[in-house]
Amino acid sequence: MALLAIIPNHDPKFWVEPLQAAVGGREIRTWPVTGDRTEIRYSVVWHPPAGELKTFPNMEVIFSLGAGIDHVASDPDLPDVPLVRFVDPNLTMRMTEYVVLHTLMHHRRQREYFKLQTNKLWQELGEPAAEELRVGVMGLGVLGRDAAEKLAALGYQVAGWSRSLKKIPGITCYAGENGLGEFLARTDILVVLLPLTDDTSGMINGDVLSGLARDGAGQGPVLINAGRGGLQVETDILAALENGRLHAATLDVFETEPLPKESPLWHHPRVTITPHNASVSDPRAIGRYITAQIDRYEQGLPLENVVDLKRGY
Ligand code: NDP
Ligand code: OXD
Repeated sequence: MALLAIIPNHDPKFWVEPLQAAVGGREIRTWPVTGDRTEIRYSVVWHPPAGELKTFPNMEVIFSLGAGIDHVASDPDLPDVPLVRFVDPNLTMRMTEYVVLHTLMHHRRQREYFKLQTNKLWQELGEPAAEELRVGVMGLGVLGRDAAEKLAALGYQVAGWSRSLKKIPGITCYAGENGLGEFLARTDILVVLLPLTDDTSGMINGDVLSGLARDGAGQGPVLINAGRGGLQVETDILAALENGRLHAATLDVFETEPLPKESPLWHHPRVTITPHNASVSDPRAIGRYITAQIDRYEQGLPLENVVDLKRGY
């Protein structure tokens, strides 16, 4: 048996060495050098070329290098074997760091203070207390729930929105299409941690942005998207920034990645851009995770975090 790493456009050593250290005696091969294709039983993938996975007739499990699986699920020829996504405290904590950092940055007007510092200006701008601001987290899964709980611990009024209704102490929960309007109308800072599926594609559009609260204690509605670029309509975000429906945005993910040089988002004064690094998978954590999952599988125990491909996440 062999585990095949299919990680195009990345330095394979960065992933494969820690993976090899974790999986011990098991053989790892690095695509495109596959050897005998019939010997591949497992694969760990990030944006595998469409059609490639079906060329391994004895594939038993596919592991996504990340929490999101849209990069694999989009393959029309995906083999009918379990697809396991990455769920790990290290990944969750990194995402929560990002969400807390950018929520605070907007709330405490840090970009404006950087500008004042550049001009040697000693000036207070005035900011509300966290308890006066309403944060809304779209997606209350592994990542959204942790971020929501940590934001609530900082004193923000936190709500969350998901497909099925949740009950989380300290968080006001909304669900489904029926709950969306009310959720948006009480939200000053919108954090998006949804997966990209047929249902969520393009959902961060002009209508959703127009639904955000207009009576907040801050300077106006803020968007933080660390989910997927396909969730957002960038022309609508830019229009909302211009017409005042949106005050500012932090975007980690984009319709096209890397973000094209000609995108006006790059130099918009109220947009903060990061290169899809809100929460990067740690190769040692991936190694531990995949080893534990393969051990479970080979002992006849159920795999964890298997994706429901019908639901799309
Ligand atoms: P989960 O699968 O644990 O959670 C997904 C959440 O989204 C669930 O609460 C789910 O609702 C909700 N949801 C899904 N579809 C809908 C819908 N149509 N309407 C309302 N709610 C919906 O995922 P994670 O929290 O682990 O990860 C979320 C996403 O974050 C990933 O899919 C990935 O795209 C992104 N990500 C980005 C990273 C980055 O660096 N930028 C790093 C890691 C992940 P319900 O609970 O009812 O099922
Ligand atoms: C992920 C990502 O899905 O890094 O884990 O985007």
